[in-house]
Amino acid sequence: MFEKKSGILLIAGVGFFAFAFLSNAVIPILMYRHLPEKTVKQVVNGNVRYQFEDLAQRYPAAFEKAYGQPPADPQQAGEWYDEKCAEALEVGRKVYIGEGCWHCHSQFVRPVSNEDRRWGPVSQSWEYQNRLQRPVMFGTRRVGPDLSREGGRRSNDWHAVHFFKPDMLSPKSPMPQYPWLFDGTPDQPNTRGLALMTYVQWLGSWLESYPYYEDYAPTPIKNIVATE
Ligand code: HEC
Repeated sequence: MFEKKSGILLIAGVGFFAFAFLSNAVIPILMYRHLPEKTVKQVVNGNVRYQFEDLAQRYPAAFEKAYGQPPADPQQAGEWYDEKCAEALEVGRKVYIGEGCWHCHSQFVRPVSNEDRRWGPVSQSWEYQNRLQRPVMFGTRRVGPDLSREGGRRSNDWHAVHFFKPDMLSPKSPMPQYPWLFDGTPDQPNTRGLALMTYVQWLGSWLESYPYYEDYAPTPIKNIVATE
């Protein structure tokens, strides 16, 4: 058997299978077994909470319709926002999957091709150790940009208008329109719209380098010389 081509191929096949199992399953399990998987509540952090409360202020009627009113007591209100934010993240992730966003967007900044210069810090394994990454949304291809560092990069109202009709902000964008995430106009996001915005603002919110859009100052256009 070992002298035959088929024997060699069989042994090579079994060998490669065993090697893949070792490198893709056994080693990662051994490396990360000390990292407990975080629940959705545990991944709510100050940054995403900030964006969630921003949604409450920007779209008070839509927000109240989706989540009700926070308790008057400030401490209870804090817990209430945390809870609703976790709920929004879970729904937002479902909308992201259901609408097929992952067909066009990846969530993994690779350590190659200077991707970090375009999208921010290279993705690390620990970032995926939570319930909202089950299964991971690595995506299949990139028609649009990677979204793993999208949180805080744009304001909520930017996202609302962009989801409603992408080419209002990005001329000739091939991204589809999602009018069903709204009760009519882009300033009336529905429960799924609010949830999707929360989810997108969550992406990368766990990093210290999370940007706030308030810091965003458009570069003034200099040296424009009037020409006749
Ligand atoms: C057919 C491919 C396609 C699909 C499906 C798609 N997008 Fe996009 N998306 C793009 C492209 C291309 C861009 C870049 C142009 C633009 O800004 O519209 C983009 C841009 C974005 C941006 C802005 C990124 C930035 O900061 O510049 C966000 C956020 C986004 N998409 C989220 C989503 C979400 C959420 C969904 C699902 C509801 C989705 N996309 C579905 C192709 C797609």
